[in-house]
Amino acid sequence: MVRIIGILIGLFFTAAVLWALATGAYTVASQGYLTEKTAETEFHKHPRELKLASDGWGGHWGEEDLAQLQRGYQVYKEVCAACHSLRHVALRDLAQLGYSEAEVKAEAASWTVPGVDPATGEATTRPGTPTDYFPSPYPNDIAARAANNNAIPPDLSLITKARHEGPAYAYSLLTGYAEAPAELKQEFPGFETPAGLYFNPYFANLNIAMPPPLHSEGQVTYADGTKASVDQMAHDVAAFLVWTAEPSLGKRNQTGWPVLGFLLFATILAYLAKQQVWANAKRRKD
Ligand code: HEC
Repeated sequence: MVRIIGILIGLFFTAAVLWALATGAYTVASQGYLTEKTAETEFHKHPRELKLASDGWGGHWGEEDLAQLQRGYQVYKEVCAACHSLRHVALRDLAQLGYSEAEVKAEAASWTVPGVDPATGEATTRPGTPTDYFPSPYPNDIAARAANNNAIPPDLSLITKARHEGPAYAYSLLTGYAEAPAELKQEFPGFETPAGLYFNPYFANLNIAMPPPLHSEGQVTYADGTKASVDQMAHDVAAFLVWTAEPSLGKRNQTGWPVLGFLLFATILAYLAKQQVWANAKRRKD
């Protein structure tokens, strides 16, 4: 009896699952989610390939790579910081990019952060100190929207983690501004780029509210003399944004190898110990 009830209950659940599958499949098929072609599905491009020192299992920043991070920081400071915050990064973290203590202090002081007037208690601004975090360019989201055609420039601290293939995506987006291709207009005559938006095939809906931030060679003057082509600046700032998202990446990857080595050693040791412990027992059995 119990067996029959069990089988019936099992059949009931199987039927419910099949029913859900059938109705789900019907909904997807009838609404064309998977088959419908739009300008976005046809012309959205996959990010271009980008090679960075931080890539892969052993990725870390060596001496030369720190120079790239410093250049990326310069691009962020002189270009992106006008619109994008970096609120999870502290100014003191810049020491990790190879700046000396005095340089970090000077860099921090070059940022203006919110402060309090010690005499009146009113809100004012003051030069940053290493313990401050990067300041936001706008006092709040409403101001950010008002200045950017109703789009909020996202905080960039974690953007390379938040987007699929983040570093390559940021690089491609920054170098990807173009005219909409003729085939797109032919295939989708209804597609247009409204005033205040810019065509960019790497952005999911093809029209982005960010005006091309890196537009001309020499827009920044690199302290280390590197030629500041648009491609170079985009590359450098992408590298910098990998660092902001995970400042300890290099250390983590470098700690990984000794840890793996130790685990291997411990495994061998455990195996030998086991052989030793069981040696007598085995002998006795024989
Ligand atoms: C004039 C203001 C402005 C400047 C300067 C600017 N951005 Fe933006 N950025 C925006 C706005 C606005 C958006 C949101 C776009 C949207 O949602 O359509 C955005 C979006 C982005 C995005 C996210 C796109 C996404 O997938 O959501 C990234 C990455 C980005 N900006 C990187 C940068 C970098 C790097 C720089 C400096 C080289 C920079 N931006 C400079 C205004 C700016």
